[in-house]
Amino acid sequence: MRIIVTGGAGFIGSVMVQYLVNTYPEDTIINLDKLTYAGNLENLKPIEDKANYKFIRGDIADRKFVFDLFEQENPDCVINFAAETHVDRSVKNPEDFVRTNVMGTTTLLDACKEFSTPRYHQVSTDEVYGDLPLDRPDLFFTENTPLHASSPYSASKASADMFVQAYHRTFGLPVTISRCSNNYGQYQFPEKLIPLMISRALNDQELPVYGTGTNVRDWLHVEDHCKAIDLIVRNGKIGDVYNIGGHNERTNLDVVKTILETLGKPETLIKYVKDRPGHDRRYAIDPEKLEKELGWVPTYNFDTGIRQTIQWYLDNQDWMQHILSGDYQTYFKDMYKDRVQ
Ligand code: NAD
Ligand code: TYD
Repeated sequence: MRIIVTGGAGFIGSVMVQYLVNTYPEDTIINLDKLTYAGNLENLKPIEDKANYKFIRGDIADRKFVFDLFEQENPDCVINFAAETHVDRSVKNPEDFVRTNVMGTTTLLDACKEFSTPRYHQVSTDEVYGDLPLDRPDLFFTENTPLHASSPYSASKASADMFVQAYHRTFGLPVTISRCSNNYGQYQFPEKLIPLMISRALNDQELPVYGTGTNVRDWLHVEDHCKAIDLIVRNGKIGDVYNIGGHNERTNLDVVKTILETLGKPETLIKYVKDRPGHDRRYAIDPEKLEKELGWVPTYNFDTGIRQTIQWYLDNQDWMQHILSGDYQTYFKDMYKDRVQ
């Protein structure tokens, strides 16, 4: 197969590209990425010289570029990871999210339609379902939960999902969609909770916990997410949605305290700051369909996975340092300046 992976220089996309390149030497993996602030070619170092791997810089919302690329590469499959992904950025500037997440997706769908691409997979998120109350631990998101997005980010992802489903129904496009819970693991950009807290704790800086820290996220290791996507792309039912999650719910405060304890840092570093507007309370995935239909089983549990992840950041401080020495300091000052209470 010739597989175009979009957003393959980001956190999850780069782990997916590495997995596909190593697992399927007979396939060709074409990584299409715009290299926004979140794209980092250092994430691809372990496979960059492999014969079945190719990187192309470009924008999924640039119609001419995308159509030329499809003509040239004639892909058998497109896996769309490319997106603006940070909720806090979407609160400040929703427009980029509409352009990449919605228009980028429709551009790829149009190209798949034009070139009769045999398979399109949309990497989506559980955030499209909105949130669950904290006092109902019995509730989980299933594939039939109605879309009820809260943030500009999740609204753009929900909109993209609806276009994917509409192209399946209207044009018969062979699509699948996966909706995953929060990922953690190697190569995550330090604007997201876990790498942000690790990098700040290592430097004895304050850890900004939004609100009371009681919001709950359902954490899945990035490698388990990528294996699930591979299963869905190869064996999933065309037109279907699959939820991905491993029943690893934790409050944000639990996660931050685990990081501090593992690094041997004091809890006095925790600083409660102003809450995120519209902050989703709880995400929790029911992954039964994926487990029963496709036999997916996660290999990591959070308690061991988080410690391995922390160790990865300790062992790869150069990787973090290259990011922190760029525009990142300006980002942090700008994003957190109004949060101090
Ligand atoms: P990320 O922000 O780390 O990476 C996004 C990548 O997309 C970057 O390499 C960036 O350069 C690229 N990109 C952005 N705009 C582009 C454009 N217009 N054209 C081409 N490339 C572009 O994101 P991530 O955390 O790896 O998330 C990947 C996908 O998984 C996203 O679709 C996201 O919605 C979804 N997802 C993420 C999580 C999570 O916890 N991180 C959970 C569920 C689903
Ligand atoms: P994040 O990693 O941004 O993922 P998402 O909002 O997509 O779930 O945030 C995870 C949780 O951590 C979320 O409830 C917001 C919270 N959070 C903080 O408390 N402080 C921070 O500095 C960040 C970035 C997030």
